[in-house]
Amino acid sequence: MTLTVAATTPSTTACDALVIAIMPGKGKTIALAAHGLSAAQGNRIIDAATSVGATGKSGELTILPAPTGFTAKKIAVLGLGDMAKGLDLEVLRNAVGSAVRSLSGNKKIAIIASPVADHVLATALAAQLGSYSFTEFKGKAKPKSPSPNIVLLVTKAALTESKKAIANAAVLSQAVNLSRDLVNTPPNALNPIGLAAAAKGSVAGLPVKVTIWDEKALKRDGCGGILAVGQGSVNPPRLVKMEYSPAGAKASLAIVGKGITFDTGGISIKPAAGMDEMKGDMGGAAAVIGAMQAIATLGIKVKVTGWIPTAENMPGGNAQRPGDVITMFDGTTVEVLNTDAEGRLVLADALGMAVLEKPDLIIDVATLTGAQRIALGSRTAGVMANNDDSRSLVCTAADEAGEAAWPMPLPEYLRASIDSPTADIANIGDRLGGMLSAGIFLKEFIPDDQPWVHIDIAGPSFNDKGPYGYTPKGGTGSTVRTFVQVAKTLAAG
Ligand code: BES
Ligand code: ZN
Ligand code: ZN
Repeated sequence: MTLTVAATTPSTTACDALVIAIMPGKGKTIALAAHGLSAAQGNRIIDAATSVGATGKSGELTILPAPTGFTAKKIAVLGLGDMAKGLDLEVLRNAVGSAVRSLSGNKKIAIIASPVADHVLATALAAQLGSYSFTEFKGKAKPKSPSPNIVLLVTKAALTESKKAIANAAVLSQAVNLSRDLVNTPPNALNPIGLAAAAKGSVAGLPVKVTIWDEKALKRDGCGGILAVGQGSVNPPRLVKMEYSPAGAKASLAIVGKGITFDTGGISIKPAAGMDEMKGDMGGAAAVIGAMQAIATLGIKVKVTGWIPTAENMPGGNAQRPGDVITMFDGTTVEVLNTDAEGRLVLADALGMAVLEKPDLIIDVATLTGAQRIALGSRTAGVMANNDDSRSLVCTAADEAGEAAWPMPLPEYLRASIDSPTADIANIGDRLGGMLSAGIFLKEFIPDDQPWVHIDIAGPSFNDKGPYGYTPKGGTGSTVRTFVQVAKTLAAG
């Protein structure tokens, strides 16, 4: 897919489909949200669209044969809903995303874009996210037709700003789509060594230093959590550190992502149904990789360190057993009561390392608990923290980025539920509020004065239903845009 911007006249722009935005009008009519059309042309579109029932509600797409006077082969009328309170960017993104998906069979799509820079950015981003497809592993069924060329039509006055906006959108969409690719890649094609290599490759040519711990280095440094989770697999674990340290950095941020390339549950094995989705148990790592690429490409003035503990959780002959006691990087001993609660074990080591650098903020992101999906559903991330300001900062950034996230508590009473008679703590706590007890476990590895936020994306990282808006089936690229927005917020001081 290529995306460009032009200031040509919509009616004479040659394309297969010309996308024109509409909204509900007075009474039963609709109104156009477009520029560059004459009143007569606009009225013809309105008449044709209303005659086939278009109402302008958000996401509604109505395909019309192009009226005379248009070079386009057809007109796609796209509802944006009631804009009385202004245009909601997420509504715009979802409408554009679903339009682009519906029109994916066309070679050239022209979209009359609102020529405001933020709107151009949102339109471009949604077009690139909405036209995502993952075909690498199609063999005979590989699609032959190339993906469409999309051109955003803006006014002449807005052309320069629009070009900047689409360049920004391209960076973001490339990062989100990279994160989606990593999640969608089959687990036999992406093991911990492969994920570490992908992390390195994703920032080739960018000012990001990548260090990879192999199993020997993990042993030397006492990363007992990562080693224990990885020991049941023939594919050894890794830890990846990605450092972006621009001159004039305004703050420091550490982002830590769970990278379980496949989670069978280990000896506490998972049921067969839906286990294939556990190829996506590295969604947190994928978010960190995408974010590092975008933040370094955009040159945001914040020191950002990405940490990716990665392992394959398998029930092999050398696998850890329920009842094993392991020693984490910071010296904490953990009684492993359930080998399926492995994410918190690999994160504990990485968090233990991240805190030594005392960054201004640590955020970890993980497909950590099934309980997250029970509590918040499949589209909203749970955000926990050891202080209210940091949690609010992340929730606000998520909102600005257009990612659904919601604050969740870490109640102190749950701490007792991870008590262990044998070790310092156990790796499972109260099942009721399982998302929170996982957060309580992670909090053990964070000093009280270290600002820290934990994001559970078990639901939003992977869309197991049909595509909607700009979100495809499978990997969604969750949290990449939130991380970029957090970096921007910190850079703004
Ligand atoms: N990777 C899973 C969590 C998960 C479940 C992510 C469904 C995405 C979709 C995690 O490692 C896990 O298995 N957690 C257990 C923890 C329990 C044993 C305390 C869970 O949620 O059941
Ligand atoms: Zn698990
Ligand atoms: Zn897991």
